[in-house]
Amino acid sequence: MNTLLYFSCGPGTWLLEMSTTYPQSQFYGIDIAHAFPKEIKPGNLEFIQSDITNGIKFDDDYFDFVRMSLLATFLQEDKWVRVLRELIRVLKPGGYIEIIEHELQYNIGPCFSTLVTPLLNFIRSTGANIQIVQKIDSLLTTSSSSNHHISPSSQNGVSTLHSTNTLTNTSSHQINQNLSNALSKLTNTHSDTRTVLIGSAHGGQTGKVFEELLKSYFENTVVDLLPWYMEISKEKYLELWKSCHKEFKNRASSTKLHKFWGMKIGQ
Ligand SMILES: C[S@@+](CC[C@H](N)C(=O)[O-])C[C@H]1O[C@@H](n2cnc3c(N)ncnc32)[C@H](O)[C@@H]1O
Repeated sequence: MNTLLYFSCGPGTWLLEMSTTYPQSQFYGIDIAHAFPKEIKPGNLEFIQSDITNGIKFDDDYFDFVRMSLLATFLQEDKWVRVLRELIRVLKPGGYIEIIEHELQYNIGPCFSTLVTPLLNFIRSTGANIQIVQKIDSLLTTSSSSNHHISPSSQNGVSTLHSTNTLTNTSSHQINQNLSNALSKLTNTHSDTRTVLIGSAHGGQTGKVFEELLKSYFENTVVDLLPWYMEISKEKYLELWKSCHKEFKNRASSTKLHKFWGMKIGQ
């Protein structure tokens, strides 16, 4: 029987689908928030409410597959090292890890920019780095192609990508080194970047799903925080968000999704 973990699973949509499709496998979802359904749940699926920064309460080498998606806006950059170490620790040798993150500000219109620009400023001020995806990608490429060492040239590449972050060069260098060490437990690594059109008018079913994800994020997750940060009323903020839906219909707006996957090295 395969055992799978989805970290930061949110409402658990992916897990509900997968656990129904694969009844012989055991699925676990972990999230800091209790957004997942309480009643309707297949017998091979368990949700656990927990904060990643406190570690993952499973034994070493437990899961065949570990997935995490869209956590970058929540996680301070220096916490990524511990998170990656934990995700890889609970993965069996020969098992696969998958990480998905997105760039909000890729090709968006003036209305959505009105919300995204202050949001990204706020995220940066917390010490989170939405561009961590590019850094991990760069480190993964480096660690798999150079026997798990960062070459001086790629270190430079990484600091260039990182230049907008608030961390000092020294701590940034240390984080890169630690991230690289954590990633060195992986082999057979790959990455894939895709443009996703937001909304069904231009992006079909995928665009619809992505717009729903953004809706939940802007209407629930940051609905108290962002108007406060933008110094506008909640009503004005929700009006702006409503106009974004119109913009997604009238203008092809897109974001980029980055996906990485790799296999844990055997003993
Ligand atoms: C943008 S949502 C993504 C949900 C889901 N992964 C998806 O792709 O649809 C980010 C999720 O990360 C969770 N999260 C944020 N900080 C966390 C932490 N420290 N530990 C565990 N989960 C966290 C949030 O509660 C939220 O459900």
